[in-house]
Amino acid sequence: MPQYTLLAIETSCDETAAAVVRGREVLSNVLRSQLEHQRYGGVVPELAARAHLQSIIPIVREALQRAGLGIEQLDALAVTTEPGLIGSLLVGVNFAKGLALRWNLPLVPVNHLEGHMFSGFLEAEPPEFPFLALVVSGGHTALFWVRSFAEYSLLGSTRDDAAGEAFDKIATLLGLGYPGGPAIDRCAMRGNPQAFSFPRPLLNDPSDDFSFSGLKSAVRALLQRHYPNGVPEEVLPDLCASAQAAIVEVLVRKTLRAARRCRARTIVVAGGVSANSALRRQFQQEALRLGLRVVFPQTVYCLDNAAMIGLVAHEKLCQLGAEAFRTLSFTARPTPLRARSVAQQRCH
Ligand code: KG4
Ligand code: ZN
Repeated sequence: MPQYTLLAIETSCDETAAAVVRGREVLSNVLRSQLEHQRYGGVVPELAARAHLQSIIPIVREALQRAGLGIEQLDALAVTTEPGLIGSLLVGVNFAKGLALRWNLPLVPVNHLEGHMFSGFLEAEPPEFPFLALVVSGGHTALFWVRSFAEYSLLGSTRDDAAGEAFDKIATLLGLGYPGGPAIDRCAMRGNPQAFSFPRPLLNDPSDDFSFSGLKSAVRALLQRHYPNGVPEEVLPDLCASAQAAIVEVLVRKTLRAARRCRARTIVVAGGVSANSALRRQFQQEALRLGLRVVFPQTVYCLDNAAMIGLVAHEKLCQLGAEAFRTLSFTARPTPLRARSVAQQRCH
């Protein structure tokens, strides 16, 4: 298999990221997280696009510098084209197209979700096909049955909020700031997960779909009823642990149920929420009990990053050859996953 050296760019949401990869080896992986959204409690699309515009040149320069390479030493470029915030995507896509034209390089368009789905291949012991992939991030919660780099089915996805969105919105209700996932994770370590009983939406539904907006509403209702003047400091850990337990239980139990049905031997858990310590612990415990292998990418590859985009692009180059990526005719698409998901697909 040829070893292409690639510069990959990722700007689908609020991280400006660039990486240089050679095959599956990461030569550099650089990113800037936009902190300007913190005071709004969520990503503001227009601010995100402007921030990408400011950061993209320094981030790309740094990625090349850390890899010890000049652009003229690259074989190809890669960029995330979908899904994501359209203004953010356009910054990365247009920048990459400009570079491709100037340096006469092939440019591989990459789907962000494929990046997360295959991020386990950046690890020293990658998963083996076929596997079940749970992609849990701020924008997506989806289960895929993955047969190869080129072939996979969407089994189910969230009907409303993504798991990371639920963490973020609940953290905002609790006054913990944005992004809320890491804050809830930390605070929950001191709390009792059984202190409050929150709903487990769609837990017993036969589909592989998820739903988290009701959980956020349940937390809001509880706060209004019991703590109209603000949550006392000493209650916060119990609230965090209980809300986290509800999200984690749904994710783990529904994924394991799908794994049984698909007779999966390996599960990959990827995306920002897969950094959650309780989720990792429960998956590991259950997997041990059931004799399954669970692959969690390292935290830097769980969160949005460009190395995973480079990895997917490398596989596409190996499959189709560099000449297939010279047209630059693709555009950027925000396409939410839900709109594209076909009715339930099967694993085998
Ligand atoms: O994959 P990612 O960086 O961006 C998207 O594609 O959305 O995921 C970001 C999401 C945020 O919602 C953040 O709160 C969540 O991942 N997250 C966590 C943790 N670290 C990040 N959620 C729970 N526990 C964590 N430790
Ligand atoms: Zn992501």
